[in-house]
Amino acid sequence: MATEHDALTTPEILAGLDHWQTLPRVQQPTWPDDDALDAALRELSATPPLVFAGEADDLRKRLAAAQQGEAFVLQGGDCAESFADATADRIRAKIMTILQMAVVLTYGASLPVVKMGRMAGQYAKPRSADTEVRDGVELPTFRGDAVNGFEFTAEARVPDPQRLLQAYHVSASTLNLIRAFCSGGFADLRHVHRWNQGFMQNKAYKRYEKIAQEIDGAIRFMSAAGVDFEALKTVDMYSSHEALLLDYERALTRIDSRTGQPYICSAHFVWIGERTRQVDGAHVDLLSRVRNPIGVKLGPTATADDALQLAEKLNPRGEAGRLTFITRMGADKIRDLLPPILEGVKSEGIPVTWVCDPMHGNTIKSTSGYKTRRFTTVLDEVRGFFEAHNQVGTVPGGLHVELTGDDVTECLGGSEEIDDIGLARRYETLVDPRLNHQQSLEMAFAVAEMLHL
Ligand code: PEP
Ligand code: CO
Repeated sequence: MATEHDALTTPEILAGLDHWQTLPRVQQPTWPDDDALDAALRELSATPPLVFAGEADDLRKRLAAAQQGEAFVLQGGDCAESFADATADRIRAKIMTILQMAVVLTYGASLPVVKMGRMAGQYAKPRSADTEVRDGVELPTFRGDAVNGFEFTAEARVPDPQRLLQAYHVSASTLNLIRAFCSGGFADLRHVHRWNQGFMQNKAYKRYEKIAQEIDGAIRFMSAAGVDFEALKTVDMYSSHEALLLDYERALTRIDSRTGQPYICSAHFVWIGERTRQVDGAHVDLLSRVRNPIGVKLGPTATADDALQLAEKLNPRGEAGRLTFITRMGADKIRDLLPPILEGVKSEGIPVTWVCDPMHGNTIKSTSGYKTRRFTTVLDEVRGFFEAHNQVGTVPGGLHVELTGDDVTECLGGSEEIDDIGLARRYETLVDPRLNHQQSLEMAFAVAEMLHL
């Protein structure tokens, strides 16, 4: 359906992309020096795009398939990436984890899995408080490596616009390695399957043996039937992050030379967080004007009406794959709160890809004082997500998980039983607790069982 939007001239499109500056905006850093910020943004505006608009279009089509129940989305990575952790080892471990989970979920869902990293750009965080107090000292909160430093000193916590440039460059090197791993043979299905067999050697995961054996049988069958494994060596992995810093995202917005349409070129997919999804706010306005597939987080205060207004503003033409709602209700609430929202959206016939974030509604403080999540509670939200969709007759389209490929101890439980005392062993996250490598794989097996029954 053609609309006025298609008829906009380039100057009109460009003017529209700055409209958010006239709107209320939340969660933006207070940069101390306007000139320094302007200089950094000018430099960013001249950089090459990190992604090609055609890739974002392909992802939109895959998300449209997930909307129809013909694909399943797996989006995973750190709560907050850090510049220091953008090393080959850490990036490789994260990619391995996502690929391993994807193989298990492909089998469980009997569907292709759309793989997206919370990677190569997840450097800015919304915060509930502007300041942090430790031992009577009050300093500005850490807002992500793209803004200020994590270290608890007055100096580190001052927002520095040079960090926006660093975020761009670290994103570029991370994405470069992701692309190399995913097209250079590393992601070969046979390797990934072997890594999963290694995981299953741990007796703690005995309960998943049946599904692991089924996957092994399926791979043997493929091999006997002459499937071309060489052709399966290349996989697509997309990049995504929360589009929080409007100045940064605007500076990386480019007009696609093929179509004349604007795309945010900092990642293939960007989402609007729970704290910035005001329908008349700046974040919704900027993202309404770009062509990328986009997401919006919906937490426990969201209503069906909020979802409908967001869909009207962000996807007025009802384009398949354009809009993903990432729900994060909390395991104890999802069975009550999600069905009415699904009903509301379904009754209007609005195309939405529904993805479950079982992490952000389930954060607790451990007795020992750590911000943590219980593995069983996280899984229970996923179960509630499937139940809600079953009840309403809508399609559960995927999972959004905070994870790392390393052996950290940030979430409680899992078959290896990380307990309250165990959290202290290796608690490294800069913001929210992540599933470690083993817990991530266990989650994939548990979800595959839910899908497969
Ligand atoms: C996040 O994804 O890290 C986050 C802050 O989520 P939400 O906006 O859902 O709270
Ligand atoms: Co988080």
